[in-house]
Amino acid sequence: MRSMIYKPFESRCLTDELPNVSEILRPLLQRTPPEQQPLLIAFAERLAAERYRGWADGAADEARKSQLLACAAREDEIARRIESLYPEAAATERELLDKPPELEEINRSVFADRPLAQQFAIQAAGERLGAATWRAFAAAAQSDHARQAFLTCAELEEESAVALETLLAADCQIEG
Ligand SMILES: [Fe+2]
Repeated sequence: MRSMIYKPFESRCLTDELPNVSEILRPLLQRTPPEQQPLLIAFAERLAAERYRGWADGAADEARKSQLLACAAREDEIARRIESLYPEAAATERELLDKPPELEEINRSVFADRPLAQQFAIQAAGERLGAATWRAFAAAAQSDHARQAFLTCAELEEESAVALETLLAADCQIEG
């Protein structure tokens, strides 16, 4: 039986240094008023959902495809839950994106020209970061309803992180 122990950043198929998503996004978040930061992240979740669907389109088999589509659905679900906390979510998101248009550029450039394994590892780190961020928002939430929404989002992020790490582990074993 093959070992399933997986160490994401010590893996032989992930030898290059990966971009630090937290550091890249920090200036963008810092320029956004705290109460609007969840909406900025919600927009990033929508972009991530599209990325997952792109990966699903290119998936080698149906099992992999359905896992990636499930990740996409979770990203959309997170965005929907966060947006539901804001009556004017769509207008505010548009306003936010007028100010930091870099979000779409960052979203594109961080993943561009990288092997799929690296893209998965970056995204998995992004999901872990997202989970930690939603937990921080939950701790500061003004209502039980908002707190619960943030905590649910954290769990959804972690499910996607595990899904990606599992796919990555399988790929790295094949390559390794
Ligand atoms: Fe996410």
